[in-house]
Amino acid sequence: MSSQPAARPQSGSPRQPGSAIHLQGVTKRYADQNRAAVDDVALDVAPGEFIVLLGTSGSGKTTLLKMVNRLIEPTSGSIAIDGTDVTSLSVTDLRRTIGYVIQQTGLFPHMRVKDNIAVVPKLLKWPKTRIRKRVDELLDLVDLPPADYANRYPAQLSGGEQQRVGLARALAAEPATMLMDEPFGALDAITRARLQGEIKRIHNVLEHTILFVTHDVDEAVLLADRIVVMDEGKIVQVGTPLEIVSNPADDFVARLVSADDAVRRMSLIPVSAAMDPSVTDHDAEVMVSSEANLRDALNLLVASNLDRVAVRTPDNVVVGELTLVALRAAATHGETEPAASLSVSR
Ligand SMILES: Nc1ncnc2c1ncn2[C@@H]1O[C@H](COP(=O)(O)OP(=O)(O)O)[C@@H](O)[C@H]1O
Ligand SMILES: [Mg+2]
Repeated sequence: MSSQPAARPQSGSPRQPGSAIHLQGVTKRYADQNRAAVDDVALDVAPGEFIVLLGTSGSGKTTLLKMVNRLIEPTSGSIAIDGTDVTSLSVTDLRRTIGYVIQQTGLFPHMRVKDNIAVVPKLLKWPKTRIRKRVDELLDLVDLPPADYANRYPAQLSGGEQQRVGLARALAAEPATMLMDEPFGALDAITRARLQGEIKRIHNVLEHTILFVTHDVDEAVLLADRIVVMDEGKIVQVGTPLEIVSNPADDFVARLVSADDAVRRMSLIPVSAAMDPSVTDHDAEVMVSSEANLRDALNLLVASNLDRVAVRTPDNVVVGELTLVALRAAATHGETEPAASLSVSR
């Protein structure tokens, strides 16, 4: 989450910053169930945060998400967005401020891409010119050039392209909150990786608040500012990816995130956290960026058969040296390192 105002695309209307979301004692008990699907959940989400709800199937992630936009009503507890209890708003007013993306995009098959994206702005009776401008802007944002894509029908798109249109549609009315329920779950690995990069980039620009559900640890680690680990309806741990991977709260979390996976932990620690800044007279040809992570650095060391590399800034100033020994120490001592001192590299 950046504290600096990001450059925002012009859309002809003042854009809301991300919303703050406050959940307190949120419980959902389905009629035919003994166990609560969501059990006394409390969570505070800061404006603009990218929160990933991570848990195995049946842990209550979807139920929790759907209570935020009131597709499901809690049995007890309260949910407030920017201080307003969601039950005090009409469902229509509430959902106007919340984008919702699911695995099955739910695009209308008989409507062109541009009309699918324009559904909510039309409901809001935006002027035609503003809608047209917004549709083009959104298609650019999700990397589907309007000239190529605006007039197609969903059946004329690949799965990944359909998911991009679903994302554009959810973003259409400039929601302060985005709820995303395993949006990339049905896509092949390459398309998924590309869309993960896209959503990260879009979040950096728009700074809306995102609640993103997944059961995929790699996806959670890649995307989240903070991961919320759920099990049997309860939150079992909340933390940054590095905190969760380095200090799992219990055996369940440790197994879920494969906490013994040193390579994953290395991918979360920046080179700058493990380098020796006193060695700057390095004349080696092989250099690694200070903004790379230890996993990248290890790949480089192995590929070039070296036990040390120079560390350089993006503008090629040597600022230190990284040795294999220091790299191993940093990767294995993640547990003892205060997580806050390591800026997570993503
Ligand atoms: N409509 C429903 N009626 C009864 N039980 C449900 C319903 N929806 C979900 N559940 C149950 O609630 C629990 C949590 O489900 P869900 O929120 O879908 O979990 P997740 O998204 O983490 O897989 C599961 O045990 C599931 O079977
Ligand atoms: Mg689910």
